[in-house]
Amino acid sequence: MSQKKIAILGAGPSGLAQLRAFEAARLAGVKDLPEIVCYEKQDDIGGMWNYTWRTGLDRNGEPVHGSMYRYLWSNGPKECLEFADYSFEEHFGQAIPSYPPREVLKDYIMGRINNQDIRKYIRFESPIRWVTFDDDTRKFTVTVMNHKTEEQEAEEFDYVVVATGHFSTPNMPYFEGLEEFPNRVLHAHDFRDALEFEGQDILLVGSSYSAEDIGTQCYKYGTNSVTISYRSTPLGYDWPEGIKEVPCITHFEGDVAHFADGTAQRFDAVIMCTGYLFHFPFLPDELRLQTHNCLYPANLYKGIFWQPNPQLIYLGMQDQYFTFNMFDAQAWYARDVILGDVELPDLAMREQDEQKWLAEYEHVHTVNSEIDFQAKYIRDLTNATDYPEFAVEKQGDIFKEWQKDKVVDIMGFREKAYRSTLTNTLAPELPEPWLDILDDSLEHFLNLTFIESKKPNKVSYIENKKSRKVS
Ligand SMILES: Cc1cc2nc3c(=O)[nH]c(=O)nc-3n(C[C@H](O)[C@H](O)[C@H](O)COP(=O)(O)OP(=O)(O)OC[C@H]3O[C@@H](n4cnc5c(N)ncnc54)[C@H](O)[C@@H]3O)c2cc1C
Ligand SMILES: NC(=O)c1ccc[n+]([C@@H]2O[C@H](COP(=O)([O-])OP(=O)(O)OC[C@H]3O[C@@H](n4cnc5c(N)ncnc54)[C@H](OP(=O)(O)O)[C@@H]3O)[C@@H](O)[C@H]2O)c1
Repeated sequence: MSQKKIAILGAGPSGLAQLRAFEAARLAGVKDLPEIVCYEKQDDIGGMWNYTWRTGLDRNGEPVHGSMYRYLWSNGPKECLEFADYSFEEHFGQAIPSYPPREVLKDYIMGRINNQDIRKYIRFESPIRWVTFDDDTRKFTVTVMNHKTEEQEAEEFDYVVVATGHFSTPNMPYFEGLEEFPNRVLHAHDFRDALEFEGQDILLVGSSYSAEDIGTQCYKYGTNSVTISYRSTPLGYDWPEGIKEVPCITHFEGDVAHFADGTAQRFDAVIMCTGYLFHFPFLPDELRLQTHNCLYPANLYKGIFWQPNPQLIYLGMQDQYFTFNMFDAQAWYARDVILGDVELPDLAMREQDEQKWLAEYEHVHTVNSEIDFQAKYIRDLTNATDYPEFAVEKQGDIFKEWQKDKVVDIMGFREKAYRSTLTNTLAPELPEPWLDILDDSLEHFLNLTFIESKKPNKVSYIENKKSRKVS
């Protein structure tokens, strides 16, 4: 039998999880592994975590993928996203606080990858242009633009793994009068630096994680006032003076926004924190997942396999409480199906399974039940593979505590510390209030948090990193 070929589209955490799953099999001595090619639009791995100052188009004229911004800290406890085969403690040499800043989280994600020889599978600066499937040969043709050679390339594959993320293409609403608004209007996707809005009165539209996080961050870095406009439900936190919530915008008049409760206010900037579109411009209708940000997108068996053609695999397409460990759970399952270790049932059975999950999801209405639902989903996947055991339900309990912490103190919840379900170590507390830590670089964070007795460890960690960078 000829060797199978797999295309992985995207080298963010989901695509890397797929590469890592096959690498784990190789290290375990599995023979006859498929040939893998991973295509990545950017010039490095990390996906969303590969921070870019750019907005709009990248240097190749491709849409910039990144939606991350300076000074972003994890919005959930790191204990809920630990890779089951690589703890934070293993990476940093000691425990770190529960809410790391972006650079620190990225360092952790890269740590597992840098120990593995998987970059060789990745073709960088190679955005996917088009994917087709031939019903006779049962093979995909993947066409990419190789910006290194400036030539288009096409190759055939037995499986395609779509891991291109879904928090990159802005959902940009319109409000009457916006075209006359004289100041800055942007989407959260293009937000980079809170200091740009220092001293300003800003209006954030939307009432989910981006609005909450960009709002609190702008407050931290000196914005004069933050107004958050909700469509369905307010975030409802106990906001400090300087942040408030208002209902939906009815229209703009010059630099004044009018709201559904009859109030009005002038603003220096409008930031649309209105979420993202699922956007797969490289997929024809018959292969394209069409969904919205939810915990169980329809038409996917096990949240992974495209029902009409399970040779097409989607990773990370769910809304995300759990992230990195969920991507791993999916990637390990997909790997085992590709290797033939897990057998896919026929279409009728697959649809029955999907309907069972969708029916259960219909009854999920509270945050706690959403967390339980996603934990159960992950458990269902890990039960079928050799992905290292991890206490996903206990991590769910930490997420529930996180929800309560935010209600108690939305500006201080990142000072809470949780126990790792992998190492059982309680994280050290953040040594200063989150609001006071303006320098969120890796070096500053580690300097601040590494305990005195372990300082040599910290020095060697950073020196080790520097030598890695130089080489
Ligand atoms: C602002 C923001 C903050 C977040 N903060 C956190 C957090 O604190 N903690 C957490 O756990 N999660 C967070 N997330 C969730 C985030 O989605 C996940 O952490 C993770 O990055 C998802 O991984 P992914 O690989 O599925 O997608 P992505 O990270 O988006 O990676 C997708 C990859 O596919 C590539 N790609 C896209 N299109 C193409 C194409 N046509 N051809 C080739 N390559 C392509 C992209 O360049 C990218 O490298 C955050 C998300 C956002 C938007
Ligand atoms: N620090 C961090 O870690 C951090 C920071 C930011 C984002 N993130 C991550 O990024 C991801 C995306 O979060 P998100 O908040 O950008 O998207 P989201 O969770 O999908 O929320 C989108 C929001 O936009 C609102 N909205 C959509 N269309 C609207 C319209 N026409 N008018 C008014 N409001 C509208 C929605 O309102 P309805 O409720 O009415 O639908 C919802 O509140 C999440 O996974 C989050 O964890 C993480």
